[in-house]
Amino acid sequence: MRIAVSASIATDHLMTFGGKFSEQLVADQLENISLSFLVDELEMRRGGVACNISYALGRLGLNPVLVGAVGADFGEYRAWLDRHGVDTSQVLVSSTRHTARFVCTTDRDQNQLASFYPGAMSEARDIDLGAIVNHTGGLDLVLIGADDPQAMVLRSKECREKGIAFAADPSQQLAIMEGPDVRELIEGATYMFTNEYEAGLAQQKTGWSADEILDRVGTRITTLGGKGVRIERKGEPPVHVRSAAVREQVDPTGVGDAFRGGFLAALAWGESLERAAEVGNAVAVHALEVTGPQEYELTKESLLRRLTDSYGPESAAAVEGHL
Ligand SMILES: Nc1ncnc2c1ncn2[C@@H]1O[C@H](COP(=O)(O)OP(=O)(O)OP(=O)(O)O)[C@@H](O)[C@H]1O
Ligand SMILES: [Mg+2]
Repeated sequence: MRIAVSASIATDHLMTFGGKFSEQLVADQLENISLSFLVDELEMRRGGVACNISYALGRLGLNPVLVGAVGADFGEYRAWLDRHGVDTSQVLVSSTRHTARFVCTTDRDQNQLASFYPGAMSEARDIDLGAIVNHTGGLDLVLIGADDPQAMVLRSKECREKGIAFAADPSQQLAIMEGPDVRELIEGATYMFTNEYEAGLAQQKTGWSADEILDRVGTRITTLGGKGVRIERKGEPPVHVRSAAVREQVDPTGVGDAFRGGFLAALAWGESLERAAEVGNAVAVHALEVTGPQEYELTKESLLRRLTDSYGPESAAAVEGHL
C-alpha cells in the first residue's frame, strides 16, 4: 500500500533567553520597540505535520511519499528524511520563498515571543496530485493534514475526483478554517482523525452532528491523550483502545502525528483497526518520551517490546512479521 502524506513541512527555531523580556520593555516606549535579546541556546527542530507522520511511516518501512511545498533551503532536512525512509522526490520547491519556519524565543519566566512564517507552504495549493500519482505509479491513500487551508480543500477534491482514498486530518487548522471548507475537506474521507477537542470543533464548524459526520466518513479516529483512542464506524459500536505504557512524559509535541504514522502503517500491513490503534499508541509514546517530534528511535525491538508491555504478546506477535 502506497501512502502519500500531504501537509505542512516546517522547522522550529527555538531560542532561550536567560533574562526577562519585561526588564527590557519600556512601558512608555512601546510604539518604538527596537530590542535585541542575547540568547543562550538555539535549537533547530524538524517539524511539520507531513514530515512527522512520514518519519514514523518511514521508520516502519513504508516509504511514504511526502507531499508539500518547501524552499531552496530544504536540502539538509530532505537528506534527513531520505535517510529515514521517506520519499521526498515529489515535494514542490519554491523558487522565491523559504521553507515554513516557526521562530520562538522563551525567557526565564517562560514568556514567549514567537513568529510563524508560512513561506513556501502557501504554494502547496499549486501541487498537482495527478502528476504525483503518475510519477509514483499510483497512490492507495493520501493523508491530508494541517497545511495551507486552500491546499487542504483542493487535495480533498482531487482525491474524490480521482477516486483515491484519503484521510482527513485537519488538526490545528480547524481553528482557522471556515465551516464550508471543513465540510469539503472531510466529505467522503475514508478516515477522519482528530483529538477530542478538535472532534467537537469539527462538529461546531460543519454544523454536522457526530452521526452526520460518521455518515460522510468511513471511520472516525479520535485520540484521547493519555486515555488512548476511540474508533467509530457507522452502524457499529465504538471501539476504545487504551494508551500504551509510558515511561516518562517528556514532550507531547508530535505525539498525535506519531500515532497517525503507526496507525496507518498497521493498516497498510493489513491489520485490524484495533491492532492499528495499538501500534499507533505504541509509536506515540516513543515520541512522548523525547523532546521534539522526530527525535525518537523506533526499532523493531522497541516497538515489539512496547506492544508486549502494553497489549500482551499476541499484539507483538501479530506485528512482528511486518517489520
Ligand atoms: N499521557 C499519555 N500517555 C500515553 N499515551 C499518550 C499520552 N498522551 C498522548 N498519548 C498518545 O498519543 C496519542 C495522541 O494524543 P493526543 O490525543 O493528545 O493528540 P494531540 O492532542 O493531537 O497531540 P499533538 O497535537 O500535541 O500531537 C494518544 O491517542 C495516545 O496514543
Ligand atoms: Mg494534534
